[in-house]
Amino acid sequence: MKKHTAVVAVMLVLSLVFSVVAFGEPGYAYGEDELSAFAPKWNEIFTDDTVISLSVGAEAGEVRFAWLSSDGKDAAFRISENSDMSVAKEIPVETSDAAGDYKSNKVTVGGLEIGKTYYYSYTEKDGWSEAEPFKVQPEENFTVLFVSDAQIGRSGEETLEEVLIRDTCGWNYTVEKMLGEYPDAAFAISAGDQFQSPYSRTQMKAYLAPEKLRSLPMANTIGNHDDGATLYGDIFNNPNEVFELNADEAGTGYYYKYGDTLFITLNSNNTLLFDTARVIRKAVKAHPDAKWRVVTMHHNPYSAAFADGEYSEHRLLFSSLFDCYDIDLVLSGHDHLYSRTDIMHGGKISDGEGTVYVQSSSASGSNYDPLPETLASHTVSAFDVRVPTYTAFTFTDDAIVGKTYRTDTDAVIDEFEISDNASDSSANIFSVVFSLLRTLFTMI
Ligand SMILES: [Fe+2]
Repeated sequence: MKKHTAVVAVMLVLSLVFSVVAFGEPGYAYGEDELSAFAPKWNEIFTDDTVISLSVGAEAGEVRFAWLSSDGKDAAFRISENSDMSVAKEIPVETSDAAGDYKSNKVTVGGLEIGKTYYYSYTEKDGWSEAEPFKVQPEENFTVLFVSDAQIGRSGEETLEEVLIRDTCGWNYTVEKMLGEYPDAAFAISAGDQFQSPYSRTQMKAYLAPEKLRSLPMANTIGNHDDGATLYGDIFNNPNEVFELNADEAGTGYYYKYGDTLFITLNSNNTLLFDTARVIRKAVKAHPDAKWRVVTMHHNPYSAAFADGEYSEHRLLFSSLFDCYDIDLVLSGHDHLYSRTDIMHGGKISDGEGTVYVQSSSASGSNYDPLPETLASHTVSAFDVRVPTYTAFTFTDDAIVGKTYRTDTDAVIDEFEISDNASDSSANIFSVVFSLLRTLFTMI
């Protein structure tokens, strides 16, 4: 059960420098030339009501798709091993009512061969879409790209075209950068706040606009800005959704497995402990032998935005469960700054087993939050310069290796390694109560 974070080459840069520009304002990595080249694409993005999303499957070899339609015609989807869509196989589409008289169309394609490239096409407003490729990446030593809070529309008045264009350009720039560096990433995780408004189809279309997302499955998370409307659930086709008693309109928690890693996505707007426990328990029961357990949730229980002695209810309610269920890594966003903790267990820094909490900064540059004047003792690395970042996680038999990049210079700002020999705990009501009390004791 021994666990240690080797912190291999710990941070190459530990930036604790406060920006001289006010926080809350945007900060992009692209220049005027990139913005000028991107802006003419806006009209096509704005009018593309049927843009498609790719979501992670329940396991490697499954990819899930979703798109909206409004024309009342039956939606169709086909897949082929050939770029000309010859010998294509038609896959049944599940269609349901979506907000605003739209239909939500969802397709799940399973049984795909690892390492193979496939092509898909679906019915959009003008007939069949152009064939798009995607590759099913190997399960060994796979890489996952981690971002959060693209939050298209956050940088100003969210209905203004100029605001949406600059935020979308920033998100597109990050997608291009991370897939330029990691073209063979298995999928990407977004820890929430994909859009500023949970009702805005325009912001949704802008989020899905980067061309490289036509070939990249994503695991999107419900943030506080995605909460309260059905759009998130209409446009993302998440696997293994677990019914929650206190679920909101956006959706509920879900889980999936890739290689030897179990990924659990929680809806952290829902602070009903029973619901969170239920999602985790169901996921662990489905994959009890997974070597690594990774949680994504929008709010970070150990955000660097908290100084020592400060915390939200998420610390008690979520981290206590993570202790019980041997969660190795928690990925979050919400505070729009990059941070990583020491190994945490029982509400304090651990010298053995525990959980590392990593929080991504803005993926687009639309907004940033400041660090406290004095960092909490659990914060090992923090970066609050107003530049979008992303983190690449590579999962091997021996370790989860993390590398965080700033997108303006491509410099690595943090590098670390998490190793763990086992994740075999089986929590029950008594261990959960004990864990809650132990964490509570450290907080008061
Ligand atoms: Fe946010």
